[in-house]
Amino acid sequence: MKLIVTGALGHIGSELVRRLPLLFDRPEIIIVDNLSTQRYCSLFGLPTNAKYRFLQADVRKAKWEDILPEANCLVHLAAMTDAAGTADKPDLVYDNNFGGTSAVAKACLQYGVPLVFPSSTSVYGSQNSVVDETCEELQPQSPYANSKIAEENFIKDLVAKGLRACVCRFGTIYGKSIGMRFHTAVNKFCWQAVMHQPITVWRTAMDQKRPYLALDDACNAIAYAIKLNLFYGSVYNIVTENHTVRGVVETIREFVSDFSLEYVDHKIMNQLSYEVSAAKFQGVGFSFTGNLKAGIEGTVNILRNARS
Ligand SMILES: NC(=O)c1ccc[n+]([C@@H]2O[C@H](COP(=O)([O-])OP(=O)(O)OC[C@H]3O[C@@H](n4cnc5c(N)ncnc54)[C@H](O)[C@@H]3O)[C@@H](O)[C@H]2O)c1
Repeated sequence: MKLIVTGALGHIGSELVRRLPLLFDRPEIIIVDNLSTQRYCSLFGLPTNAKYRFLQADVRKAKWEDILPEANCLVHLAAMTDAAGTADKPDLVYDNNFGGTSAVAKACLQYGVPLVFPSSTSVYGSQNSVVDETCEELQPQSPYANSKIAEENFIKDLVAKGLRACVCRFGTIYGKSIGMRFHTAVNKFCWQAVMHQPITVWRTAMDQKRPYLALDDACNAIAYAIKLNLFYGSVYNIVTENHTVRGVVETIREFVSDFSLEYVDHKIMNQLSYEVSAAKFQGVGFSFTGNLKAGIEGTVNILRNARS
């Protein structure tokens, strides 16, 4: 099994490349990343039960002809992912994310390699009820989510031309990894609580439900899609559970008791709650086993000794 993982030094990829050898027999794993987020540490101590190769490259310009022809699958995780921090940088996000995904998808079509593409449940934006993949009125609230929709549509067009692809709309990830980042809800709140900073909650968000995904479930879902050959162009919501910010904060309180809350405004916050159903992916036999409490406990524990 020869697998290519782009953006593999990031939060999801750094765990995925360590998990794949447990799920496939001695795979060859090519890690492609441009190091734009400087996560050199994700390459430290890679296990010996896989053959790894690191290729420092921007996915928009990588020499795919050197690595794709022999590959069994490409998991495309490379992206600019700070949706809130890039809210005023739509061109930058689009150039990097749409530019990267379109280049990767075209190359996968050219070399006949199946593609796993992680989209985001943020494409749903604000919705009045529980949504599933049949929802047609997507309401993206950020350049990041806008770009994900354009990327999904690009892939859909290439599927009509023969690309084999699986589009996974991931909820917001929680759970520790060596390349983890701290700019999305659960991780950021854990960081703030441990570091004696007030937890900054968007003013409208306290009782809004949002979809979350345990890192374990994200990695297992990618492997499951590969094993089942789910490459016929479908979109799947990949969500462990929907939670309110209040639920997340109260779970953190079980591990760190002395923090305060600060309500803040943000350009991309909105008034509506939304819940995302993952029944379609469960319908193909996948079981979500992640657990918010365990994810928070793990994150708090890796930071605990840094607390003054
Ligand atoms: N983490 C989440 O909560 C979440 C939720 C939904 C979807 N996703 C999607 O999953 C994927 C991985 O997310 P993550 O949290 O691991 O992201 P991350 O930001 O932790 O890692 C992304 C990696 O991509 C690399 N990268 C960025 N642009 C690149 C380029 N042009 N060429 C090569 N490498 C590039 C970065 O250096 C980084 O190592 C992304 O597509 C993201 O949109 C993540």
